[in-house]
Amino acid sequence: MRKDIGTLLNPALRNIATYSVEGGQQAEIKLNQNESPFDVPMWLKEEIVGEFIKEPWNRYPDILPYRGMQAFAKFLGISSDSVMMSNGSNEMLYTIFLASLGPGRKVLIPDPSFSLYEKIALLLQSQIVAVPMLPSLDFDTEAIIRTARDEAVDFIVISTPNNPTSKSLTFEDVRLIAESSDALLLVDEAYIEFSRQRSILELIDELPNLIVLRTMSKALALAGIRIGFAIANPMLMRELAKPKIPFASSRLAEITITKVLANYSLVEDAVSYILHEREKLYTALGSNKSLTLFESDTNFLIIRVENADSMFQSLRSAGILVRNVSGYHLMENCLRFNVGLAEENRRLIEQLTTL
Ligand SMILES: Cc1ncc(COP(=O)(O)O)c(C=O)c1O
Repeated sequence: MRKDIGTLLNPALRNIATYSVEGGQQAEIKLNQNESPFDVPMWLKEEIVGEFIKEPWNRYPDILPYRGMQAFAKFLGISSDSVMMSNGSNEMLYTIFLASLGPGRKVLIPDPSFSLYEKIALLLQSQIVAVPMLPSLDFDTEAIIRTARDEAVDFIVISTPNNPTSKSLTFEDVRLIAESSDALLLVDEAYIEFSRQRSILELIDELPNLIVLRTMSKALALAGIRIGFAIANPMLMRELAKPKIPFASSRLAEITITKVLANYSLVEDAVSYILHEREKLYTALGSNKSLTLFESDTNFLIIRVENADSMFQSLRSAGILVRNVSGYHLMENCLRFNVGLAEENRRLIEQLTTL
C-alpha cells in the first residue's frame, strides 16, 4: 500500500490554499486587481516588439536581468548593485522570504496585509506575529515597534500604501520602525506612485536592514509582462540574490521596462488621471449614506456596505467586477475596487447609488 501522498508533502501545505480570485478575471468593467485602466499604447508596444524580435530566442537571457536592472537604477538615480529585478514582485517576495525566513524564525506582519506574505511565511514554517491595524484601518505604528521588540522578530514586512486597506505609514514612521528594530524590514511600495507620502528609498544606504520592493504592475501598467524590483544596500542585495531563481525574467521584460522608463511621461499622465478620478469617486460616494468610505492613498478604494456578499453579486450581474475583501480582519462587509476609466467609474457610482 502506498503512503497517503499528503504525508509526503511539505506539512505547511495543510495550512495554505491555492491562490484564487473570486469572480474570475474577466468582466466588462474589471476593477478587482488594482490594475491600470490604461494599456501601453500600440506605438510603444510595436517599438518594444521590434526590439524583441532582434533578440536570440534560442539563447538564455542573463542569469539576472542586468539590462533591466541598469535601466531602473539609472531611472532612480542609484547604483545598479542596489537593484535586483524579478518576474513580478511576487517572485521577489519568494526570493526575499527565502533569504530571510525558515523554521523557528519570526516575522511581523500587520493584519490585514497582502495575503502572499502570510502564505510564504507559512510555507517556510516561520512563526507569524500579526499586529492588528486600528479600526480605521490605519497602521498602529506604536504596536508594530513594541511588538517587534517584545517578540524579538527577525523580519518585518510592511506594504505601504497597504493592500487591502489602502492606508499608508508616513515616511517618518517607516524610518522609526527601521531604526527601532534590529530585524530586516521589507517595505513593499507597490502603490507608492499614488501615495501622498514619499518613498523610503532614499534611506537604503543609511539603513542597513531596509529592503524596498516595487512592482511595475500598477502605475506602470505592466501586470501582463511581470516585472518587479527590490532595492537595498549592495551588501544586503548580494545576500538576497542567493536564493533567486536564475533566468526568471525574459528578454521581453528587460526591453519593456527600458522602453517604458524612457517614456515615463505616459506613466505620470496615467497617475494624474487616476488621482483625479479617485477624488471624483471619493466625492460622489462620500454623499452616499448607505456606505462607509475609507480615505485611500492608493489606486483603489475601500467601502463598507450593509451586505458585501450580495453587493458583490449585484455588481457582478451589472458587469462590474470588484473584490470582496470581507474575509480580512477588521474588514467585515468591505469591498475593494480600483479606479477605472471615467465612464467605468461613473457606472460604478450609478450602481452603488441605486443598489
Ligand atoms: C502589496 C502588493 N505587493 C505585491 C503585489 C504583486 O505584484 P506583482 O507580482 O504583479 O508585481 C501586489 C499585487 O496586487 C500587491 O498588492
